Amino acid sequence: MEHQEHAAAYLAFATDAARRAGAILRDRFGLPHDVEYKGAVDMVTEADKASEALIVGMIRAAYPDHDVLGEEGARGDDSDSPLRWVIDPLDGTTNFAHNLPIFCVSIGLMERGVPLVGVVYDPMRDELFAAVRGAGATLNGQPIRASRVDRMLGALLVTGFVYDMTARARQAHLWRVFMTRVQSIRQTGSAALNLCYVGAGRLDGFWERGLAPWDVAAGALVLAEAGGVITDFEGGPFTVDGGVLLAAAPGIHHEMLALIAEHGEYAPATADPANRQRP
Ligand code: IPD
Ligand code: CA
Ligand code: CA
Repeated sequence: MEHQEHAAAYLAFATDAARRAGAILRDRFGLPHDVEYKGAVDMVTEADKASEALIVGMIRAAYPDHDVLGEEGARGDDSDSPLRWVIDPLDGTTNFAHNLPIFCVSIGLMERGVPLVGVVYDPMRDELFAAVRGAGATLNGQPIRASRVDRMLGALLVTGFVYDMTARARQAHLWRVFMTRVQSIRQTGSAALNLCYVGAGRLDGFWERGLAPWDVAAGALVLAEAGGVITDFEGGPFTVDGGVLLAAAPGIHHEMLALIAEHGEYAPATADPANRQRP
């Protein structure tokens, strides 16, 4: 693609932005926060906004003609650029607000809807995951690979839940399906870190529905460049805008897909006993 030749410069830029934004989060970690609610349990803090403002300011200064999509409201100025920065200034806000040190900054660069560069930075561990399309994925500069696990009983999976309670109740079905067939399941609270951790072989598979582009734009590239497999729940192509993903080590992705196909994403509706027909 036409912008591949500039990818190294974009990667250096995104790395610098993610480290600076991460420093904001690290400095504010553990302090009292200004919390607003977007929904019943969906929070945003002053740190989310400060991190996004810093990243977007850097992009507007360095690449004024590029398009921008940020979770906390940043949008391109009707840009018709083929390049779009997709930003989650704080992935893991619920953890952050509870003083649980599991969160990150996620910055992806898309070229006509296809990920070109991805950077995910965990400021509490000083871990920077990075990928460029076609050039592999790294953690702090060292190449990473998805795990070689090839059986579900040896797999450590991860998932996440949306903020909508009705949807959560339905999403619990797949948790039940997988929990009795794998070593265990985690729920870290950061989709971007989940993708990078599967890419680094720390976790073996990740499924979630209800994700936004900023949750996945960078991490999906890290995962894919690390040799992980990523699709939707039917085995079709993953897209950053699709909202659903099944990302796993190559040795178990097909088994996870087969279990979803066999058991369904949601439990079948059971009839209310009062409405059951009498014989
Ligand atoms: C959330 C996290 C979480 C996932 C949610 C996301 P936020 O992002 O990635 O792991 O389960 O679906 O919304 O709100 O912390 O940026
Ligand atoms: Ca997020
Ligand atoms: Ca966020």
